[in-house]
Amino acid sequence: MSFFEEKNPEMDRYLENHASSEPEILKKLRRETYQKTTQPHMISGYQQGRLLTMVSQMIQPKNILEIGTFTGYATLCLTAGLAKEGKITTLDVNEDLAYLPRKYFAESEYSEQIDFKLQDAKEFLKNTDEFFDLVFIDADKENYVEYFKLIKPRTQSGAIVMFDNVLWYGKVLEENPKQKSTQIIKELNDLVAKDEDFENLILPLRDGVNLLRRK
Ligand SMILES: C[S@@+](CC[C@H](N)C(=O)[O-])C[C@H]1O[C@@H](n2cnc3c(N)ncnc32)[C@H](O)[C@@H]1O
Repeated sequence: MSFFEEKNPEMDRYLENHASSEPEILKKLRRETYQKTTQPHMISGYQQGRLLTMVSQMIQPKNILEIGTFTGYATLCLTAGLAKEGKITTLDVNEDLAYLPRKYFAESEYSEQIDFKLQDAKEFLKNTDEFFDLVFIDADKENYVEYFKLIKPRTQSGAIVMFDNVLWYGKVLEENPKQKSTQIIKELNDLVAKDEDFENLILPLRDGVNLLRRK
């Protein structure tokens, strides 16, 4: 659920009814996420999933990084455009839930191309020497600025980076926010807008997606 969905559920239904239909595996995963997890709203909604799939299909990435696997919905959306020899590394720290993404990744036609790691994202980023051509960040908001700083050197010209929840339920409009997460998301959006190495656009989809392309 997001700021925008809460405001206009009818429009949200219309948007969903006029997008390509959701593949069976995603429907099943969405259902199970709502049945088995305590915070199912964390899942990327279907519209956002479609966006991830379409971006992935447009750039046909060889190496994707996702920060924040949760139950694997966005991971499976991102796999749809993977190059033949491509792979996706997806990171999470929640061991209790790991059985769910593992089950769906095993079922996926891309199972061999998915590397699911139970590892803190900062630790991973500080130790990797890989370059990524598509990155999706949807995890602990307090680390978004640090993630941006660590991800930038791991991208090259043409790379796409997407940050989720960058409108933070509209709280980015607060002038002096008390909440740490709001402060960090505002700092991230300012930093990205000023960074000469990227061009970007905040899509007001769901809770806002900051879409960046490395020049
Ligand atoms: C909003 S959910 C991700 C939703 C997922 N992208 C989807 O579409 O279904 C955020 C996830 O980030 C994970 N997370 C939080 N801190 C993390 C960290 N430091 N490193 C990696 N993952 C983290 C949480 O455990 C949680 O599963």
